[in-house]
Amino acid sequence: MKDIKARILSNKEIAPGYFKMALDAPYIAKTAKPGQFVQVRCSDGFDPLLRRPLSIHRLKAQGSPRLRSGQARLKGIEILYEVVGKGTKILSEKKDGNLVDILGPLGNGFTLPTALNLEPSAILVAGGIGVAPLVFLAEELAKKKIDTVVFIGARTKKFILCAKDFKKLGAGLQIATDDGSRGYKGFVSRLLKLRAGTKVYACGPRPMLECIAGMCIKENVECEVSLEEKMACGMGACLGCAVKVAGNEYKLACKDGPVFSANKIIWLR
Ligand code: FES
Repeated sequence: MKDIKARILSNKEIAPGYFKMALDAPYIAKTAKPGQFVQVRCSDGFDPLLRRPLSIHRLKAQGSPRLRSGQARLKGIEILYEVVGKGTKILSEKKDGNLVDILGPLGNGFTLPTALNLEPSAILVAGGIGVAPLVFLAEELAKKKIDTVVFIGARTKKFILCAKDFKKLGAGLQIATDDGSRGYKGFVSRLLKLRAGTKVYACGPRPMLECIAGMCIKENVECEVSLEEKMACGMGACLGCAVKVAGNEYKLACKDGPVFSANKIIWLR
């Protein structure tokens, strides 16, 4: 983990209120794993004081917006973020060439299917901005030729993010929207059909994660969830991101997570 000043390569609005920022950060790109995050200092001053934890959305290759080859060509990372407050608003106004202070990679990420069966497969479930870490994960799954289906849940069709990215990786795609403007009308979890041997990865609002965790536990399907907890330090110092887990213990989302096995979390608060 390093604290670096990264140059902004691009910062574009890809859907109303959602931005994708590419950062020149070779060290982080070379060491990051899917599911890890960076702590971003949004302002050059002290307001807001706290950094924002943002998932590493994907890696960026030298001279290309897409990762096509090995680690040697890695140039940086992309982050995908929603403007939800002062910090992310400031971030959204930054221009190409500006420097941003980022700390990372942080946390524990996803673990790929261990192929206990001969044909491992993966299901990715994204709710809203929860899609952010799943593109990086889908890229790693595609490299290992693991059959992947992605389920995206969004408010309306305007807020469906990254569908084309998943398709380009060869993943199957199913979509649900709250208003039925595209795909199934209703909760994305309703679309899931679980089968033995598959591994489920989910990121999104806690009720969605809780629902998916319950389904997976019932069907005895392995499931990892990435928690979107509020974080201050991002490094295990402030204890502000405690998550209750089995055994009446607490783990820290920033240090022990943000990815946890779904069956380890005590979901009811
Ligand atoms: Fe400070 Fe996790 S954010 S301990």
